[in-house]
Amino acid sequence: MKLQNDLLLRAAKDEKTERTPVWLMRQAGRVLPEYRKVRATIKDFKALVKSPEFATEVTIQPVDILGVDAAIIFSDILVIPEAMGLNYEMEESKGPVFPRRIINPSDLDSLHIAQADELQYVLDAIRLTKKELNGRVPLIGFAGAPWTIFSYMIEGKGSKTFSAAKKVLYSQPEFAHRLLSMITQSTIHYLKGQIKAGADIIQIFDSWAGVLSPAQYEEFSLKYISQICDAINEVPKIVFAKGAFYARGQMNKLKCDVIGLDWNMGIEESRQLMPDKVLQGNLDPCALYGSLEDVKRETKKMLNAFGKTKHIANLGHGLYPDIEVDKVKCFIDTVKGY
Ligand code: CP3
Repeated sequence: MKLQNDLLLRAAKDEKTERTPVWLMRQAGRVLPEYRKVRATIKDFKALVKSPEFATEVTIQPVDILGVDAAIIFSDILVIPEAMGLNYEMEESKGPVFPRRIINPSDLDSLHIAQADELQYVLDAIRLTKKELNGRVPLIGFAGAPWTIFSYMIEGKGSKTFSAAKKVLYSQPEFAHRLLSMITQSTIHYLKGQIKAGADIIQIFDSWAGVLSPAQYEEFSLKYISQICDAINEVPKIVFAKGAFYARGQMNKLKCDVIGLDWNMGIEESRQLMPDKVLQGNLDPCALYGSLEDVKRETKKMLNAFGKTKHIANLGHGLYPDIEVDKVKCFIDTVKGY
């Protein structure tokens, strides 16, 4: 089906666009009263993710309510460990927790490389969303980067330091590589499945890139992101590595189209380090706590710095739940009216 609005796809491929496209990480979620309403009718987060009908509804909400130029499928990066054999739970107001975690190399025996059909519920949600979107905007598929998924599987939950995961990198690098390879293979199967189901573009989230050294990042993260980028050639690819300011030069060499920036990464410097990439981002989500005037000013400052080409407007990380919807709309409308 031909898309009525394909700004995101054209911008990702560095083709001519009438204006800069805009979408937001965590656009489907708790900032929207409409999301909270759906969430209140259902048992828990995982039930929402596993119901194609509800997942479709909340995926499309930001397209209707906020007017973004893309939808991102409602799911979570932690569906991959679950498909590999490590179940996660989402605890209210605490975040994800793994009842069992990976500690020793022998724990790998309990895991397998996941096939796409083990995540059929996500693929069904993608198919249904594509049907309901009816060509209005592109649909973004996604997965976590192997390092970020590895961190959760070893730590069993979020962490400030990720010291348990980093300990494995230092003391048992071979074990780390075995698990990272299994996650990478699973992720390639999963992303290919998402694309077959209808995802028009994909994003890889490396949320915990910022805790590694440049050398470790190259060995334990970029290597595997690179394998994913090499394996996926069907649609444009976005790589967002939060905190990986030190790896930007290396990231310019990835076989992907777009690199996401967080707000710590200077725009001009990023252009110099990644001349071959379209850049996405990077307003600090906290800028949306300001007044409407503040939001307009900060958004325009960002747009001026990126210029009118090779840019997809977004925040430097996901929306926080307590940001007001009218500020979010103001950000989007400022981009669209620029
Ligand atoms: O709109 C979208 O961005 C699509 C949906 C989406 C979710 N999670 C839904 C979600 C996406 C793309 C993710 C990715 C994700 N999940 C990442 C990478 C992006 C990032 O933020 O760095 C990470 C690290 C996770 C793991 C995760 N899931 C955490 C740490 C938490 C708890 C923190 C929080 O925001 O509550 C989640 C829960 C989660 N995933 C929520 C949503 C909407 C909130 C839970 C709820 O509604 O009850």
